[in-house]
Amino acid sequence: MTTPSNTAESEYDPFEAFNRSNGIGVVENPYPLFALVRPQSPVLKEDVRAMVGLEEDSGIPMDLPDVFTAFSFEAVQTVLRDGETFSSSGYAEVMGQVMGHTILEMDEPEHHLSRGLVQQAFSRKAMESWERDLVVGVVDEHIDAFINEGRADLVRELTFPFPVVVIARLLGLPRADLLWFHRKAVELISVGFDFDLGIRASQELYEYLCGIISERRAHPSDDVISVLVKAELEGQRLDDDAICAFLRLLLPAGAETTYRSSSNLLFGLLSNPEQLDALRNDRALMPQAIEEGLRWEPPLLTIMRTATRDTVVDGVDVPAGATIIVNMGSANHDEKVWERPDDFDIMRPPRQHMAFAWGPHMCLGLHLARMETRVALGRVLDRLPNLRFDPDADAPYITGMTFRAPNALPVVFD
Ligand code: HEM
Repeated sequence: MTTPSNTAESEYDPFEAFNRSNGIGVVENPYPLFALVRPQSPVLKEDVRAMVGLEEDSGIPMDLPDVFTAFSFEAVQTVLRDGETFSSSGYAEVMGQVMGHTILEMDEPEHHLSRGLVQQAFSRKAMESWERDLVVGVVDEHIDAFINEGRADLVRELTFPFPVVVIARLLGLPRADLLWFHRKAVELISVGFDFDLGIRASQELYEYLCGIISERRAHPSDDVISVLVKAELEGQRLDDDAICAFLRLLLPAGAETTYRSSSNLLFGLLSNPEQLDALRNDRALMPQAIEEGLRWEPPLLTIMRTATRDTVVDGVDVPAGATIIVNMGSANHDEKVWERPDDFDIMRPPRQHMAFAWGPHMCLGLHLARMETRVALGRVLDRLPNLRFDPDADAPYITGMTFRAPNALPVVFD
């Protein structure tokens, strides 16, 4: 079997390749474009031939489903709250090949039962003990490593590595496997542009995780895998394949998003020092600051659904079989719902945003993500006085198409 801690890896950098495929460093600010489209076309029928690079008059026949993008808040909410009309099964074609059959691609009633089983590992009680016994320590370890320097890149030294360490510890994985594990998680979700790499990572993770699952069946402890092994609902339990699939979803779902959302929030605060000061002086503003960061720059802009019947979304006819790109980023900037939507403003009245989606598939890890962000930001404010962008470094900026985050967060502090 692959032994992660001694696997020699090539020069290829999967993090860099994934970011490149995502328009990181290229697509700067898509929000003005969404604002132009949204009022005229809350749901826009895309030109599929152009999307795949075919000329109008090329004469090449094409049998692809219609593709629509939902831009308005109303359209995004309509699609996400109705899992019967808007199926998640389309994920099986790509993500399903590397993750296995996960809750992400399930429709009801299967989804409800499986989600009920896996979410037993994410109870409120577990969350409290993870915060106290794990997350504070992990964040502090990362800050310890740079605090004496007086400067840091908060992405490279804090927000990028800490969520994956948290997940690996929640799963009870050996520390020595961590870098390998993070790398495989990114290779797994690279399947959209490098199929073979994604499949290889999926198989390696399967072998690795199955070994750990059978070890936990024999010697259960109190980590997430042990809870999954014991979970029971309506007489059903999770077999090894189901647990392994869920774990292969958990890692990218939890690490890639939280790293980006906490980076985006720090970027918003550092770019608006008066808001950073307000938060430093009144920590009761923390929950609304976290939600504003998620609304303003959600780490994941779009997800996908398939129409199971002819339907109408925000006044637009959508035929059965159509693919719908659900643009949560655009929904979060809908001027019908938020005033000055492009401004980062932690003082705005709280309102439900769409960064965690909505309806039956609303993010299972949202409490964990919020807790991790609260701890990381809280420790940054406690331990790094007079935190500000490094005036001698290049100004950072947020980029990306599906996933969005700043390229770096160079800071200095006293
Ligand atoms: C700020 C951080 C996060 C954001 C913005 C986010 C966003 C999302 C979104 C938009 C979905 C819906 C996907 C879809 O239906 O197509 C989702 C689902 C999911 N998320 Fe998160 N997520 C975050 C953090 C996490 C964390 C930390 C975990 C893990 C512990 C996690 C685990 C999951 C799982 C398992 C699902 C599938 C739920 C289902 O299909 O029923 N997420 N997330």
